[in-house]
Parts: sequence; structure tokens; C-alpha cells
Amino acid sequence: MMETKDQYILNVRDLNVQVKTAEGMSTLVRNINFGMKKGQVLGLVGESGSGKTVTSMSILQLLNRKNMNIQGSITLKNKELNGLKEKELREFRGKEIAFIMQNPMNAFTPVFTIGQQLVETIRSHTTLNKKQAKELAIDVMQSVNLPDPEIIFKNYPFQLSGGMLQRVMIAMAACLHPSVIIADEPTTALDLHNQLLVLRLLERIRSEYGTSILLISHDLGVISEMADDVMVMQNGQIIETANVFDLFDNPQHEYTKRLLRTRPTLYFKKQPYTYML
Ligand SMILES: Nc1ncnc2c1ncn2[C@@H]1O[C@H](COP(=O)(O)OP(=O)(O)OP(=O)(O)O)[C@@H](O)[C@H]1O
Ligand SMILES: [Mg+2]
Repeated sequence: MMETKDQYILNVRDLNVQVKTAEGMSTLVRNINFGMKKGQVLGLVGESGSGKTVTSMSILQLLNRKNMNIQGSITLKNKELNGLKEKELREFRGKEIAFIMQNPMNAFTPVFTIGQQLVETIRSHTTLNKKQAKELAIDVMQSVNLPDPEIIFKNYPFQLSGGMLQRVMIAMAACLHPSVIIADEPTTALDLHNQLLVLRLLERIRSEYGTSILLISHDLGVISEMADDVMVMQNGQIIETANVFDLFDNPQHEYTKRLLRTRPTLYFKKQPYTYML
């Protein structure tokens, strides 16, 4: 079948991001091209500083445009996101694209409780009333194993650990079942048990709602379990893209081979694992 751009939910073409420095413009990511199909889990791997977070932040238009220059096209369901006004972007974020941030503290406003922020986000994207929104928020917090959701609901962000805040963000994504989830290191701050819960929840969101997931992780065990296809990033560029089995069995690029050689043991494989909560 001919590949056309319409088959992609999210389509990134010729993305280049530059930052202003004292010495002039410096390129952070270069010539990024990829598309995500409905229900696809696309892994993004690469060493620290290779540009994974910059890529995801530019898709969501979260980079500071005052000192960053984002060139290229980012379409979600054929709608161009690059350059969109803040007000229009807000309708997309959360509802159409959810972002599980690598640094979860940045995702929350310090002066409102977790509950206020969850209810506000749910209500701004659904027709639920306050009570229903609260019930939904509590339910999904339970599903990511957050202890005492009723108490967390009343807490302020600083009262939770990074791992807990990340699970709150995942719970939020689960509420709104967006078309795309961008998960930037969603399991790094978690212990093994909670890593499994989070991955199962992501897998359940994908299978129930056909959500496409861009999964950024340095953990190749997580990538091998979850991803259908994988992109490898080095120095701001995607140097290799392949089906997950091909990538692990037959890496093409020297850098990919090195990355696979230095991978930690795939402890994840050894766990009993079913796609059910
Ligand atoms: N706001 C910014 N201004 C200037 N440079 C930045 C900014 N944000 C990121 N960078 C630079 O861009 C490069 C890519 O950073 P990025 O955070 O995307 O890496 P990463 O692949 O996500 O790494 P990690 O695995 O550690 O999360 C790095 O050299 C970083 O220093
Ligand atoms: Mg990062």
C-alpha cells in the first residue's frame, strides 16, 4: 500500500530547532521526520543530551519561542500545530495530545491542589460536572496505584514525589483518552512494581482507545516490551528507525550497536507480564 501522510495521526516533517546563544543560533535538533499511526507505540531512544526532550517539547509547542526557533511542520490529524496561538494550543494539549513530562514538577502549578488541577483539566475538555470529574480523577489515580487518592487530591504538588506526580500525569492522560500520548521517561522515577503498573496502564489506554504513544526511554527493556517501532537519536538527529525486532536483532548503525551492547540486563522480560491490569 502506498504510504500517504493522511494515515498518520501525528506527522512531523523537517523539524529543526535552534536556540539563540551569545555566539548566534545553535541547532538542537535537525531534520526530524516521522509519522505515528493510530495505536502505534513508537520508541525514541538515544543518549542523554541527544535531543529527545527538545523534540517532544517542540511537538507540544512548549519551547520558549523568544529564544527558540522551531522550523518545520507538525500536524495532528492534518492540523498544523507549529506556530499555533497559545489559546488554540490549549485545546489540543491534554485532550488531543497528552504529555507525560520528564520533569513532572514543571507540569503543575504550585499554588493549586492536585485535585483542583485535575478537575479543571477534565472539565475544560469534557462535559462532566465537578462531582463527576472528581470521581473520575480519584478512579484513575487508583488505577496507577497512587495511595490514598482522596488525600492526594487535597495535596499541593510539592507534597508529592516526582514519581507520584508522574503517575498523576498518566492518570490524567487516562481520563481524557487523547489521540496521542508523548511519554518522556515515564518510568524512570519509579520502582519496578510501579513501572509495571504504568506500562500496563499505557498499554491499556492504547488498546482501548487506539491512542498512539511516543515512548521516550533510556531503558531498552521497556522499549523492547512496549514499542512497535523505534527511532534512535544521536546529536540531535534520528540516525536509525526500525521495527523493534529488526532493531534489536539487526541494528544497522554503529551507534545503535553500541547502545544495544551497553544496555542493562532486560529484567523487565523476566517479569510475568500480561496486558491486563
Ligand atoms: N532551553 C534550552 N536552551 C538551550 N539549550 C537547551 C535547552 N533545552 C535543551 N537544550 C540542549 O539541547 C540538547 C538536547 O537536550 P534534551 O533535553 O532534548 O536531551 P535528551 O535527549 O532529552 O536527554 P536526557 O536523556 O538526559 O533527558 C542538550 O544539549 C541540551 O543542553
Ligand atoms: Mg530528556
